[in-house]
Amino acid sequence: MKRPFAELSGTGSYAPPRVMTNDEFSKILDTSDQWIRERTGIRERRVSSKDESNACMGKAAALQVLEQNGLTPLDVDAIVYATASPDRLLPSAACDLQAILGAKNAAAFDVGAACSGFVYALNVAEGLIASEQGERVLVVAAEKLTSIMDWTDRTTAVLFGDGAGATLVRRSAGARGILASYMKSDGTLAELLYRPGGGAAHPPSEELLKDHSYYIKMAGREVFKAAVLSMADACDHALQRAGLAAGDVDLLIPHQANIRIIEATAKHAGVPMDKVYVNVDRFGNTSAASIAIALDEAVKTGRLVPGMTVMFVAFGAGFTWASMVVKW
Ligand code: ACO
Repeated sequence: MKRPFAELSGTGSYAPPRVMTNDEFSKILDTSDQWIRERTGIRERRVSSKDESNACMGKAAALQVLEQNGLTPLDVDAIVYATASPDRLLPSAACDLQAILGAKNAAAFDVGAACSGFVYALNVAEGLIASEQGERVLVVAAEKLTSIMDWTDRTTAVLFGDGAGATLVRRSAGARGILASYMKSDGTLAELLYRPGGGAAHPPSEELLKDHSYYIKMAGREVFKAAVLSMADACDHALQRAGLAAGDVDLLIPHQANIRIIEATAKHAGVPMDKVYVNVDRFGNTSAASIAIALDEAVKTGRLVPGMTVMFVAFGAGFTWASMVVKW
């Protein structure tokens, strides 16, 4: 087996305390707890308050990681931040986090790969260490999706939630670390899952607010099919690069978008569901943050322990997809 170059050291996460159930949605939209549970597996999600900014949630997750590593914010060489819902368009969410964390020795920037963002960011972090930009790279994935979803659209509003997760990437000291990874995108499919307005092509205007084009739009059925095929493809590639087979995977942590997508992906990848981490029922889809939150839960509940082989697999807007095999 390949000797890993970089490892993930410590995990953290933050979930806003406000829990919103499906029944609450059925009071404001033409939907039901039964429909949402049967089609998505989601029972509830977390909704951030005005005071819980994207960067604040990222900070809470990051501080746990630094504490576990016995580091202070001043020890961080770089912050790679994955998000599709930054607090503002300029500067980056990473720079906002850098400021409130006091990580003044770091280089900070965002990775825009939507729900694949955490896995993309881990890859970037490994590359920063390889190119000697630093030794301690903080990877943070946070989303405040409830601020960019259309609360009047039942086909998207019921799916998303808020939260953050983090880890530290550093040079591997031994056998544990990143064994292999794979990233891919297809920008020609962008308009199946996107935010049409608010950027430079369609700057904020009254019309944009009226037609709700500021919010996430999605062709659910097409996204569903592409997600399953792409994530199965990503698992195959990463395992092949690691020289491993599906049977070697002790835990699969997929992007948490929909239980049916997770089950179909696991089946295609050849990983039984008892080796798949699922928390979509409690968090909904937290985009870039979903794998990071699930990873932290898996570690803190003892589901993922040292020596295990864990595989992450993600799919998101772009389309983007990615997978990573890690010796924990
Ligand atoms: N409540 C009740 N009915 C609904 C709801 C709702 N919340 N949403 C849609 N419906 C209706 C539709 O209007 C449609 O009604 P119609 O037949 O009268 O037109 C019917 O339910 C079926 O709609 P479909 O879209 O065909 O339902 P489907 O079984 O495909 O489920 C869903 C929809 C859950 C969105 C599914 O397609 C899905 O999960 N797609 C992937 C979405 C996803 O995971 N996106 C994120 C991945 S990438 C990322 O994380 C950013």
